[in-house]
Amino acid sequence: MNHRFCNCQKVFQAHTTLIYRLSLFLLLALVLRTAVVSSYHPGFLWFKRREIYWSLEALKADEQSPVRSDKFLEVPQIVWGLNNQKIAFARASLTARLLNRTLLMPSLSASLFYKEMDRLQPIAFDKVFDLRKFNNLCGGFVRVGRASEVSDRTKPIEIQKGSGRKWTAERDLNQLKEIQIGPDDGAEVIRIVGKNPFLWLDHWPVKQYARIFDCLVLIDEIADAAAGVIAKIRAKGLNSRSGNTSAMARVPVPYMAVHMRIEKDWMIHCKHLERRSNTNQICSSKEEIMARVGSIPGLIAPMVTYIAVADALLEDGSILRGWKEGLVPVEKKMVGAWETYQRWPYLVRSAIDYEVCLRAEIFVGNSYSTFSSLVVLERTQRRMREGGSDGGGGCGGGEEGWASYAYNLGGEQERGIRKWETDMEAPSLQAISYGTSNISCHR
Ligand SMILES: *[C@@H]1O[C@H](CO)[C@@H](O)[C@H](O)[C@H]1NC(C)=O
Ligand SMILES: *[C@@H]1O[C@H](CO)[C@@H](O)[C@H](O)[C@H]1NC(C)=O
Ligand SMILES: *[C@@H]1O[C@H](CO)[C@@H](O)[C@H](O)[C@H]1NC(C)=O
Repeated sequence: MNHRFCNCQKVFQAHTTLIYRLSLFLLLALVLRTAVVSSYHPGFLWFKRREIYWSLEALKADEQSPVRSDKFLEVPQIVWGLNNQKIAFARASLTARLLNRTLLMPSLSASLFYKEMDRLQPIAFDKVFDLRKFNNLCGGFVRVGRASEVSDRTKPIEIQKGSGRKWTAERDLNQLKEIQIGPDDGAEVIRIVGKNPFLWLDHWPVKQYARIFDCLVLIDEIADAAAGVIAKIRAKGLNSRSGNTSAMARVPVPYMAVHMRIEKDWMIHCKHLERRSNTNQICSSKEEIMARVGSIPGLIAPMVTYIAVADALLEDGSILRGWKEGLVPVEKKMVGAWETYQRWPYLVRSAIDYEVCLRAEIFVGNSYSTFSSLVVLERTQRRMREGGSDGGGGCGGGEEGWASYAYNLGGEQERGIRKWETDMEAPSLQAISYGTSNISCHR
């Protein structure tokens, strides 16, 4: 029995050595392959970006002073478009930080209605964004807590924020500071009643908003849906190169996303805005957008171009015609992502489109759109984090990825297009969103 066992072991050892050698060889091959592929593979890059981002956030979190976790701020339901809701949420978080309180997890709105209160469809924050990741990333800066953390739910102090022309930013800030030093600071819950946080006055620089946006990570289910849509768009790119058998063509191809604001109600709104601001740089027709996108320098054809557009315009085949040769226009129905979108309410569909635009190699939008503006803000921030220049008009995006352009402003040439980056040093969000032609790049 014993010697037989020894024989077995010898055989076993020989096998182990062989397996060991084989594994080592496989591992080496894998490492080499990864190294070669990663330089072209946008998916891999994105993965790497996420890693860098997470480790940086962890470092930053330690430097800050945490807010109290036994005092809470409650805010009204957050309403309107995805990006208005993100801004409102950030404003509520920053108000809570100012008061040194945990923000009670607010309700977002799944639908775009805002006049009919009964159709707002409240949806819990953690049905869209990952609460645990939010607090991990933003811990030490702001904190969002659950209602169950409140020990005595019977006596919140209600505070009415002022409104009207006389209610200036200064008065608003004074009110908050008085709460900080007054008897209300002792209350376990302060509930702000009245206006939705998007309409509160702004007291914070762009960087602080950006810090909050950074911590808004979609829940896995929605993030996976977005990744699926992106994979489908890249696959279209692969098909468009199918005649090309070179090794490169097997790797996911880069894509461009164009946020086209051409719906009827936007056109009416923007024409009105143009008259009021005495400019002609807000509205762009379909033809103008196509011509300007075509003029982006250094486009590598074929380039899949995802058109982020209101659902109502998907039936209109004309958004797919008229693009410069070499651009391969697609929309959600064409890439087979319609079913994915259909499963979700408005807010989540918009969040998926946002991800698609955020992660595109090139993004083109309208500088008067809050959606476009926040996409560019986040792209600017990511590029800077990867070691690009420091914003402030540097506008280095392009070589490193994350290039963004505004199609509504025009460039130096007649049909030109303007490079677009957010001025991360701007003193308030007002300076970079709510419609501006000031996009910090001057080339
Ligand atoms: C909040 O209060 C705690 C305890 O009083 C303090 O240590 C912390 O620095 C404060 N944080 C902020 C953001 O003011
Ligand atoms: C095939 O793809 C490679 C890499 O993208 C490119 O350099 C080459 O010009 C393409 N060839 C054809 C015939 O399109
Ligand atoms: C545009 O933004 C820059 C940087 O934030 C600022 O210095 C400049 O005054 C702004 N210009 C206008 C017209 O708002």
